[in-house]
Amino acid sequence: MSMPANLAPLPELYVSYESAQKLKVEAGNLTSLDMTPRQICDLELLMNGGFYPLKGFLPEADYDSVVENMRLSDGTLWPMPITLDVKEAFAETIEIGQDIALRDQEGVILATMTVTDKWVPNKAREAEKVFGADDSAHPAVHYLHNQAGKVYLGGPVTGIQQPVHYDFRARRDTPNELRAFFRKMGWRKVVAFQTRNPLHRAHQELTFRAAREAEANLLIHPVVGLTKPGDVDHFTRVRCYEAVLDKYPQSTTTMSLLNLAMRMAGPREAVWHGLIRRNHGCTHMIVGRDHAGPGKNSAGEDFYGPYDAQELFRTHEDEIGLKMVDFKHMVYVQERAQYEPADEIEDRDTVTILNISGTELRRRLREGLEIPEWFSFPEVVQELRRTSPPRAEQGFTVFFTGLSGSGKSTIANALMVKLMEMGGRPVTLLDGDIVRKNLSSELGFSKEHRDLNIQRIGYVASEITKNGGIAICAPIAPYAATRRNVREGIEQYGAFVEVHVATPLEECELRDRKGLYKLAREGKIKEFTGISDPYDVPENPELRVDTVNIDVDNCAHQVILKLESMGLIAGH
Ligand code: PPS
Repeated sequence: MSMPANLAPLPELYVSYESAQKLKVEAGNLTSLDMTPRQICDLELLMNGGFYPLKGFLPEADYDSVVENMRLSDGTLWPMPITLDVKEAFAETIEIGQDIALRDQEGVILATMTVTDKWVPNKAREAEKVFGADDSAHPAVHYLHNQAGKVYLGGPVTGIQQPVHYDFRARRDTPNELRAFFRKMGWRKVVAFQTRNPLHRAHQELTFRAAREAEANLLIHPVVGLTKPGDVDHFTRVRCYEAVLDKYPQSTTTMSLLNLAMRMAGPREAVWHGLIRRNHGCTHMIVGRDHAGPGKNSAGEDFYGPYDAQELFRTHEDEIGLKMVDFKHMVYVQERAQYEPADEIEDRDTVTILNISGTELRRRLREGLEIPEWFSFPEVVQELRRTSPPRAEQGFTVFFTGLSGSGKSTIANALMVKLMEMGGRPVTLLDGDIVRKNLSSELGFSKEHRDLNIQRIGYVASEITKNGGIAICAPIAPYAATRRNVREGIEQYGAFVEVHVATPLEECELRDRKGLYKLAREGKIKEFTGISDPYDVPENPELRVDTVNIDVDNCAHQVILKLESMGLIAGH
């Protein structure tokens, strides 16, 4: 049977069921890599054809070529380095030509890989070329430098089984499953809508218009792998999508969840998304304003221009094999009670144009304020309110950082008592000394051990925050990158309030309450923060307190005022 190229089956990397059973047993003897959540997302799309024509994690020559020219070394367009990063210690145990087993986080073997390449990448170059700047304000650059391993392994992958998903199984489709569905429905043209946000009325209008313009059916194709830190979690989003789906004509629209780990790489990401949608049988894709934008850089400016992604996409449209439906910013025109593209409103001086930005929406949710019906659907708003109650009802973390003897613990204790006096939420104090006695008793003060210590504190604090409690942490936490990791872990569940206890070193040394500075100066304690070990001063803490001229009670009160101004505690 002849069928259009976009609907024909696509090669996958899986072996047959029988071979998989055999391979699984054999792979039990191989060196294993326990993959990270991002690597598991990449592996799934490699194996099911989502990343076709890739046959595995990129070898070095392809990596170099993708970074430099957005192409594999044979010239095929591919904008994103799909790499298998590992720790140095693991890499040292691996020889070229060796097969390794790729496992999920529970130890299930998903695939094997023949390692053909092993190298130490130039991460600064990767950041510059792929993400546009070596600036850690970019989430993927931060990941590259602070979470990804030092060494990359490359080689072909043999797929054994798909990663297991326990959630929304009926809503997940491989490229071939979607192609088969489109074939069955007779959908020749399909326009994909990529999203990492809940759908509001503006999006619905935009997708309707796109489908009309392209004379195509519509695929709502939300990303449920990894999105930008701080986004609404995918469970909530999928419940929102399901509520909105009823508002689309059933015979022309469908929804499928895509387990992609986004990189927020703007223009390059748009081209990548196009290739992935082509692989999923689509013929068109919507590219809106600031597609896959990562937000502001460390100088407070946008990483990419608002229409850079559309431009790059347009230049490569033929090679991608899928057409772009570009859209400008949609706004609500009150007089006409409808959404219109902002730049097509000719009478803009005489009509009332309404718009609620993402930031404004989050503020209204946080403060429990009204969200009008012209902006979103009541079912969506209700779902969002359920997962983001007003801040005064959510958990949060206060994270004190500062030199030894700066007064962190004393202020933290005072704060705890004040919060307990107010009542409402349980309060837990994770003081540096207490944690080192209980959670981290085996650790010393090397960078590695300090990072482990802070990660443990961060993990406990994130669990407390998630469950609606208040966590107060008071370690030295000398490294900015580690503090940021902790922040990201916590901000998915509630606010993270960093308080720098800015007592100068001279003052801490003068007080020397535990006599440690004296020992450090004498060289009897090594790696002592401020004396023989670094301390990165926080650049943008939520609050900085000066303990030299201000007493403890007042310092703790300043924190309370800050919490109040952030809406975390109701006025009293
Ligand atoms: S860290 O860097 O965040 O893991 O440190 P932390 O867990 O807060 O532990 C700091 C307390 O340990 C004592 N101590 C040292 N501090 C810094 N450097 C060295 N080498 C060191 N050795 C022991 C010190 O009492 C710190 O307590 P505080 O409460 O900060 O004064």
